[in-house]
Amino acid sequence: MRWTQALLNTLREAPAEAEIASHRLMLRAGLIRKLGAGLYSFLPLGLRALRKVEKIIREEMDRAGALEVLMPGLQPPELWEKSGRITAAADVLFHVKDHQDRRWVLGPTHEEVVTDLMAGEVQSYRQLPRTLYQIQTKYRDEIRPRFGLMRAKEFLMKDAYSFDADETGAKKSYEAMVGAYRKIFERTGLKALQVEADTGVMGGASSHEFNVPAEIGEGEVVTEEGGSYVATIEKAEGKPAARKGVAGSLEKFPTPRVRTIEDLTKKHGVAAQDQVKTLVFTNGKATALILVRGDDEAQESKVARALGAGYRTAADAEIKEAMGASPGSLGAVASTLGGKKVTVVADLVLKGQTGMATGANENGFHFKGVEVERDLKIDRWADVRTVREGDQSASGKKLKVSRGIEVGHAFLLGTKYSVALGAKFLDPHGKEQPAVMGCYGIGVTRTLQAVIEVHHDKDGIQWPAAVAPYTVMVVTLDLADAAVKKAADEVMASLEKAGVDYLWDDRDERPGVKFKDADLLGFPWRITLGAKSLAAGGVEIKCRRTGAMEVVPPGQAGGWIQNRKD
Ligand SMILES: Nc1ncnc2c1ncn2[C@@H]1O[C@H](COP(=O)(O)OP(=O)(O)O)[C@@H](O)[C@H]1O
Ligand SMILES: [Mg+2]
Repeated sequence: MRWTQALLNTLREAPAEAEIASHRLMLRAGLIRKLGAGLYSFLPLGLRALRKVEKIIREEMDRAGALEVLMPGLQPPELWEKSGRITAAADVLFHVKDHQDRRWVLGPTHEEVVTDLMAGEVQSYRQLPRTLYQIQTKYRDEIRPRFGLMRAKEFLMKDAYSFDADETGAKKSYEAMVGAYRKIFERTGLKALQVEADTGVMGGASSHEFNVPAEIGEGEVVTEEGGSYVATIEKAEGKPAARKGVAGSLEKFPTPRVRTIEDLTKKHGVAAQDQVKTLVFTNGKATALILVRGDDEAQESKVARALGAGYRTAADAEIKEAMGASPGSLGAVASTLGGKKVTVVADLVLKGQTGMATGANENGFHFKGVEVERDLKIDRWADVRTVREGDQSASGKKLKVSRGIEVGHAFLLGTKYSVALGAKFLDPHGKEQPAVMGCYGIGVTRTLQAVIEVHHDKDGIQWPAAVAPYTVMVVTLDLADAAVKKAADEVMASLEKAGVDYLWDDRDERPGVKFKDADLLGFPWRITLGAKSLAAGGVEIKCRRTGAMEVVPPGQAGGWIQNRKD
């Protein structure tokens, strides 16, 4: 491809709203253009890279035995009513109406559609297991689309769904997909961590996220120093440094204008770790208290699991009504909860603690000398805290919290969708059984941008060869010179012969401009030829990543690169 015939405009500056390097570079290198918030067009160069990512995904999915299908983005809401997700996923669902006033939803994912499809296709255990996949556009009404393709309203996903006759089979299918994911990310040039993830309110089954370490990532990952534990912040378990409490008797004391953990520390000298933090949740009917140590934060996903579906943080008025006091003076001291119907779930870290302070359910009063098991009304114990940097892992190692980009997610679903949508089959005894399912997503467009986020320098992108839009940028200078023209023809013939794809910068521009653009576009190799390089014995091949240069005879350029693909 010749630059002068391409649709390729590089930008010196990215629009100010592009906050992260990969987003800026995708715009500057002319890979994508914005249509609206969270909506992007792929230009030819960007699409070439995207197609290479897709190719890798298809090869690994096919190799793992998955079957490619293509399902509609426009979906009947009745399926979403059957699964219950018409409300559970309401925050991301786009609704549309046709001319007959009939309602549709735009698919944010395809569990409903694929399960309905398989309900019709599979009748017998002999037709299982099957894993289907597609690479297809998803729509999600993200409240805060940002970072370009990272969090978009319309994006490309590879989604796969496994159907098995039993739990054992489902686990095997899950392992096959997770194995394929490891290969996919490795081949695209990403060092993705396979992270234990939260399975949500459903519980039980397993889930893994694939996470690419990066400062700008929206996910938090907990790892162990010198160990193998890796989990998402939603799932991770750890122990904070122990505190020493002095046992004593329960004593109420006045704490006027104390509203927060910090207030009690500042005004009354009670360290945060010596306090019990009381959080109030409601499902509209019942009230539940979550207790954590004062220096800890409750973890939303763990709280959701501990309380079950339907609970949310109570509003101030609801708290006042249920507890008789306002936030800042709340607590679970049994004697103050008389007549109140609340369920209390305490974090495991509080077990056995003495000499703590907590609110008295009376504005302006707290208790000290609290002995957790003696004085508090506790219905259940659960791990509900968020792990912090420096906590201890189960094997006694130090935990670290870092950020990363979630590029993929695997989930053992069980029979939730097959039961709801009738994906049943007859087992060997002629008995009807629901298929055991798994679902597996890769953000294809997000993966492409993650590649750029981890492979760039101050001058531009540094594409891994496997997903570069082109392998080589051919930069010709002094084209009016007949010898240069002849050498250029030879270089390109040799690239074509070797099957190496290239973009030829044939523009009438200064060398400096061309070199800058070559660095910005960041193909693995730049071949420069002009009167000067020919005088030095051939064409100059430069590696974008290392900057190393070598002079090679024009006719050997293709072979040279083919043998050194990385
Ligand atoms: N808004 C989005 N924009 C781009 N990619 C997304 C978006 N939402 C999800 N993805 C990608 O699709 C994969 C599967 O999605 P899923 O796990 O269902 O999303 P979430 O973690 O947001 O619930 C994610 O791992 C991510 O790579
Ligand atoms: Mg996810």
